[in-house]
Order: sequence, then structure tokens, then C-alpha cells
Amino acid sequence: MQRPRVLVTGGAGFIGSHLAAQLATDGHQVRILDNLATGHRRNVAAIASRIEFIEGDICDARTCDRVMEGIEVVFHVAALPSVPRSMADPIGTHNTNVNGTLNLLEASRRARVRRFVYSSSSSAYGDTPALPKVESMEPLPRSPYAAAKLAGEMYTLAYARAGLVEGVALRYFNVFGPRQDPDGPYAAIIPLLFRAAVTGEAVTLFGDGGQTRDFTYVSNVVDANLLAATEPAARVSGAAVNVGAGSRTSLLQLAHLVEEVTGRPVPVQHAAERPGDVRDSQAGLDRAREVLGYEPRVGVREGIERLWEWMTANPGSARLEPGGVASL
Ligand SMILES: NC(=O)c1ccc[n+]([C@@H]2O[C@H](COP(=O)([O-])OP(=O)(O)OC[C@H]3O[C@@H](n4cnc5c(N)ncnc54)[C@H](O)[C@@H]3O)[C@@H](O)[C@H]2O)c1
Repeated sequence: MQRPRVLVTGGAGFIGSHLAAQLATDGHQVRILDNLATGHRRNVAAIASRIEFIEGDICDARTCDRVMEGIEVVFHVAALPSVPRSMADPIGTHNTNVNGTLNLLEASRRARVRRFVYSSSSSAYGDTPALPKVESMEPLPRSPYAAAKLAGEMYTLAYARAGLVEGVALRYFNVFGPRQDPDGPYAAIIPLLFRAAVTGEAVTLFGDGGQTRDFTYVSNVVDANLLAATEPAARVSGAAVNVGAGSRTSLLQLAHLVEEVTGRPVPVQHAAERPGDVRDSQAGLDRAREVLGYEPRVGVREGIERLWEWMTANPGSARLEPGGVASL
């Protein structure tokens, strides 16, 4: 077997598992580093024979050095990815999302990795009324999670500008698709809407449901990562780039969309707004088009249809049991 050339941290998670699968399908030698904090081995079961899986923690610098051997491109996807969790445990979030990122950058520099593609977050923008969000706006994080993701982005881009490791930060806007975890207290909204449709049990929306997001089907995020790894450094290195669908959908519109696609009612109940939550969000995609040649190929409705198709084909994986509250 050839030595692995690409590393996907967080490859057992929702987004990382899609990226790893596409890279393996494209013929890359893929190594995954994941400590299974929020990811699952079942997410990579279908590609297990085609990848190398290392269970380990990005907070451990020696592990980061070890997994870097022979690697050309790092896709750094691992993180503790939740606003409410960061409110409850800001230091745990910082350790993984900032210190872990710095460990990986240092290991990348030592191993002479060619490029580092960082999974950043639209939460950097905060809650200003200006839409769409464009990369030239001042970042105004409103939660420890957002601050930590932005700090990781700053390190990535500083390493790039200092000539240490080429680096790109992709600011994802609310990603959804197969394998997104519907369990646990920090589950994302879309799997919970589907669960409500299937079980008939109400999903809890925080606030009035009028808050909007740029819901982005996961294949678009995979596309952006592949482009970020291959476009010329002169164009992309040192840049923060939005990755979204470029549209805006409210939670209530989304619930209706899920009703249309499944043909079942989605009962909702409302609870008080949560601190740290952002009201509206939408990606401006001019820079993504310019520097990456990125175009969202799958829109919200098609993404919801594809996800429903997957859920009906994999009822066990979708774990459509009742319960759960919605997080954004
Ligand atoms: N899902 C979204 O809408 C969204 C939006 C913006 C940004 N992001 C970013 O995208 C990335 C992936 O998010 P996701 O939704 O796939 O989440 P996820 O929880 O499914 O995946 C994160 C993965 O990282 C792993 N991980 C966590 N801590 C680790 C550690 N210390 N060492 C090694 N592995 C560790 C987890 O086990 C998991 O497999 C994150 O960086 C997140 O901040 C996601």
C-alpha cells in the first residue's frame, strides 16, 4: 500500500467522513485522526478498508507529529463543534479548537506539509444586521466556540502569511446532510426536524423560529475543501473564504420544507431564545467564486430531498427515535 498523502482530522465526524470518503474515491491515500469525542467509527465503516484510521487526540503534540508522516495536505476538520457546549465548558472548547489546531500547524510545519485547509465557521461574523456576510467584515464572535474557531483560523492564516505552511480557512455556514448526529444535547436542527416528522413528537425551537441560516448541503463543503487543497497558493493561501449555499432559510420555512419532502407534519414547540445564538446569517460567495472557483452545486431543497432519501434507505443510521432539542 502507498503511504497516505492526506490527513483528515475529525474524519469520523459528520463533515470529515464525507470528505474522507470523497478523497478515497478520488484515489487519495487517506489517513484519519479522530478521538471519537463526537464522531463514530460507524461513519467511516463503508470506507474502512480504503483508509487508515488512527484513534488519537489533536491535543497531544506527539500524536500530531506521528500522524503527519508522509502527509502532503492536512484537512483540519476536528473540533468540538457546538455553541452551547462552549458556553458550558469554554476551556475544553479552547483546548481542542485552539491548542489542538496549533499542535497540528506545528506538526505540519515540521513535516513540511504543503497545505493546511482549516474548517472555520460562519459564527465568526456574530450577530450584526448586515447581510450577506462577507470576509472583509470585522469578526465579532459571540460565544467561546466562535472565538475559538476564529483563533484557529487566525493561526492558520498567520502560518500561511509567515511562509510556514500554506493555509486556507473555510468558513462553513450551517452544514447538513447524511450522518449528522441527531443525538445528544447539541444536535443540529435538520436531523431533529426529520425526527419530528417521523415520530410525530414536537421539536423544540429556541425563539420564534424566524431566525434564518444559510443551510449548506455537505457535498458543497467537500467541493470547497478539494478546491482549497488544489488551487494555486498565490490565489488561496492566507485567505478566509465563506462556504455556503448563498441563500437564507428560516427555521419555520425549513420545517415546512421537511413537511413537503416527507409528506408528514413537523410539530414544533417554542422555548426561550438562547444566549450566544445569532439571529440571521447568509454567506456572500464572491470571494469563494473568485479564489476557489467554488459554486454551490446542491441547493437547500435538493439537499433536504437527498437527506430524506438517505434516511429512508438507512433508517437505523438516521436514528429516528423521539427526543432532543434543536441547536443551530
Ligand atoms: N456542522 C456545521 O454546520 C459546521 C458549521 C461551521 C463549522 N463547522 C466546523 O466543521 C468541523 C466539523 O464539524 P461536524 O459538524 O462534522 O462535527 P462532528 O462533531 O461531527 O465532527 C468533529 C469530529 O472531530 C473529532 N474530534 C473532536 N475533538 C477531537 C480531538 N481532540 N482530537 C481528535 N478528534 C477530535 C470528533 O470526534 C468528530 O469526529 C468542525 O471544525 C466545526 O467547527 C461545522
